[in-house]
Amino acid sequence: MIRLAPSLLSADFARLGEQVVEAEAAGADWIHVDVMDGHFVPNLTVGPLVVDAVRRCTRLPLDVHLMVEAPDRLLEAFRAAGADRISVHVEACRHLHRTLSRIRELGAAPGVALNPHTPPEAVEWVLEDVDTVVVMTVDPGFGGQEFLPRMLRKVSHLARVRDQRALHFELEVDGGIDLTTGARAVEAGATVLVAGHYVYRHPEGVAAAVRALRQATSPKPART
Ligand code: DX5
Ligand code: ZN
Repeated sequence: MIRLAPSLLSADFARLGEQVVEAEAAGADWIHVDVMDGHFVPNLTVGPLVVDAVRRCTRLPLDVHLMVEAPDRLLEAFRAAGADRISVHVEACRHLHRTLSRIRELGAAPGVALNPHTPPEAVEWVLEDVDTVVVMTVDPGFGGQEFLPRMLRKVSHLARVRDQRALHFELEVDGGIDLTTGARAVEAGATVLVAGHYVYRHPEGVAAAVRALRQATSPKPART
C-alpha cells in the first residue's frame, strides 16, 4: 500500500492546523514536516514549536525531514515535540550510524535522505538501521520545483537492494510529486510519496488532490 505524506511546506501557515486536519480527513497517511535551518539549505522554516502544534492537531504519524547541519543537537527536541519519524541527510552527518541509532533510542523511526547528487552507495552500510530512505527528487529547500526524472534510477536501485537483502525500509520519494511523477515513482519502487505543492496548491483543494493522488498511484487491477 502506497503511503501519501502531504508536505506542510506549501500549506497556508496562517491556518496550519486546519490544513493538517484537511489532509487527515482527506485520507493522508503521514504528515511531512520540512525543517530547514538556512545553512544546509538556503531556506529557513520551522522548529520543534511548530511540530508540537501540529502534533496537537492530528493523530497521523509526523514524518519530520531535517534539512539541517549537525542534526544531532536537535533530535531530542523534535522527538519531544512529537515527531514519529525523523529523517536526516547523509550529507549532513559525520557519524550517520550513531545519529540513526540515537533517533531509534529516542523512540522515533530513523530515516536517511539523499540529495540528488548523492549515490545510493552512500547509505549502503546503514540500510539495516533505517526505517525510511528518502530519495530527493528536487534540490532540497523549496516546494513547487520540477521533478528530476533521473532520480528514478536511484529509486529503482534502492528498491532492488531492499528486495535482494530482504529489508523493509520505506522508500520515500520527496519533491515534485504529482499524478504523473507519483505514478512513475511507485513504478520504480517507491512506497511513500511526499507531495507539497500538488496537495496544498491544488485548485480543487486538499481532499481532491489527495483523492487524485491516491487514484493515480494505486495498483491497477490485473486485466481479466
Ligand atoms: C523540499 C522538501 C520537500 C518539498 C516537497 O526541500 O523536502 O518535502 O516540500 O514539496 P513539493 O511537492 O512542492 O515539491
Ligand atoms: Zn521533505
